[in-house]
Amino acid sequence: MTGKPLTGRLALVTGGSKGIGAAIAAGLRLDGATVVRAARSLPEDAPAGEVHLAVDLESDAGLGALIDRLGRIGVPDLVVSAAGGFSLGGIEDVGVEVLDRLYQINLRAPYELARRLLPPMKARGRGRHILIGSIADHLALPGNAAYAATKFGARGLHEVLQAEFRGSGVLCSLVSPGPVDTPLWDPIDPDRRPDLPSRAAMLRPDDVAAAVRWIATRPPHVDVPWLQLGPA
Ligand SMILES: NC(=O)c1ccc[n+]([C@@H]2O[C@H](COP(=O)([O-])OP(=O)(O)OC[C@H]3O[C@@H](n4cnc5c(N)ncnc54)[C@H](OP(=O)(O)O)[C@@H]3O)[C@@H](O)[C@H]2O)c1
Repeated sequence: MTGKPLTGRLALVTGGSKGIGAAIAAGLRLDGATVVRAARSLPEDAPAGEVHLAVDLESDAGLGALIDRLGRIGVPDLVVSAAGGFSLGGIEDVGVEVLDRLYQINLRAPYELARRLLPPMKARGRGRHILIGSIADHLALPGNAAYAATKFGARGLHEVLQAEFRGSGVLCSLVSPGPVDTPLWDPIDPDRRPDLPSRAAMLRPDDVAAAVRWIATRPPHVDVPWLQLGPA
């Protein structure tokens, strides 16, 4: 693994079982990092250089188990919060139970992980926190109220983290993609919806992974506060 830019680095990727998080985890591994993937549906057996943690990040027990297990592995150099949920529908059709669920995974989980993981990174004087936002963290789109409420909140979290950790060596980045062809769209089936982009017109998970890998491999004097990407 010598000669790879992230050799010797420890990366946590939530949502590492599929979609964007899985592509990020695979990419960071190619760059030489030891990668801890966290999601509900991961097999316990992991290939060399990886650790799989099957945890539900909507629960305090799952968050606690992840933090405990990671604590026994080491202080991460890179924390990528990519686990997330999505919903689509006008506000009259989307109940608060949907908002509650999206809040748990899109905002509460990254908040708790940042709260517990960034202080040790600060004490060491080095690290990056990369939060996967969305076009819906800065743009109001119809049918997106519950999702956008959590993603605008995640952007708020990112901006405060940036302010609180400035000068500490811990750098915080928000990556805000437009639509990406992942399993997140399976229940919606956008190819049958003329109001949505077709799957072929979306970004690929590797496009987002390339952005994260680029940030993760910048030297420590380079801060990347916000990176937006979307289909051409
Ligand atoms: N796809 C898009 O168009 C798009 C665009 C912009 C931003 N994003 C954002 O990108 C991130 C990843 O989305 P994606 O498209 O890759 O979605 P995806 O294919 O549905 O994958 C979601 C990931 O989150 C994990 N996850 C969900 N709930 C979890 C829970 N309670 N505990 C632990 N892990 C959980 C899933 O793992 P398990 O099911 O195994 O638990 C999976 O690994 C999300 O934050 C999403 O908002 C997506």
